[in-house]
Amino acid sequence: MELTEAIKTRHSVRKYTDQPIDTAKVAILRAELEKWNAGSGLNMQLVLDEPKAFSTGMWRYGQFSGVKNYFVMAGPAGKAAGEKIGYYGEKLVLLSQTLGLNTCWVGLTYKKIPGTYRLREGDKIHCVIALGYGTVPGVQHPMKPADGFYEPEGPKPEWFMAGLQAAMLAPTAVNQQKFKFILHEGNQVEAKALFSMAGYTDIDLGIVKCHFEIGAGEQNFTWV
Ligand SMILES: Cc1cc2nc3c(=O)[nH]c(=O)nc-3n(C[C@H](O)[C@H](O)[C@H](O)COP(=O)(O)O)c2cc1C
Repeated sequence: MELTEAIKTRHSVRKYTDQPIDTAKVAILRAELEKWNAGSGLNMQLVLDEPKAFSTGMWRYGQFSGVKNYFVMAGPAGKAAGEKIGYYGEKLVLLSQTLGLNTCWVGLTYKKIPGTYRLREGDKIHCVIALGYGTVPGVQHPMKPADGFYEPEGPKPEWFMAGLQAAMLAPTAVNQQKFKFILHEGNQVEAKALFSMAGYTDIDLGIVKCHFEIGAGEQNFTWV
């Protein structure tokens, strides 16, 4: 499956079967994760067969069940690191989708289980991403009209609109979609996070930038 196809078929999945993730798929995910950690300074980790993080009855939001595998999205604190968490986490999400696995970003409704992950000096856990074989493929989230997501008004190049469509399909916290893409002279694109009471806008920004790059084609533009 191509990444453009993964963008269209990915939806948040909160209920998982008992099927363990094949060792070949785990090896692919771990290899990419290590490569992306090395390039980004993040400390993302894959935890397998660990049901406690999602077993509490305390949280009802999201209705998770059967979650035993998840990515711990750890790294330095701060806005820049938050954006990287979103960008590289979404690369893991889309890679998982191409491998026939389902995912869900989780900011709130999980427990940190000491001993299942390692933090370096200064690291924090920004969030986790549930992973596994879903009992359902998930559903398409509602979308706001495309013209609210870009500036300036008026016709735009095909690659820009393809990037925007991909970004609109991206997961964002509580589906808030608080982002905007601005096209500048010389095919330069600026991506902006807008204010939100719910937070998580730095992570969301990294996620939508990951989708925009895939949709638009990295060769067609440069980030401001
Ligand atoms: C940073 C972030 C945090 C999220 N936290 C939660 C969460 O705590 N619980 C939950 O059920 N879903 C959570 N989600 C999933 C969003 O609700 C979901 O992505 C959004 O509704 C869009 O739906 P989709 O992913 O199916 O396209 C989170 C998503 C993101 C990007």
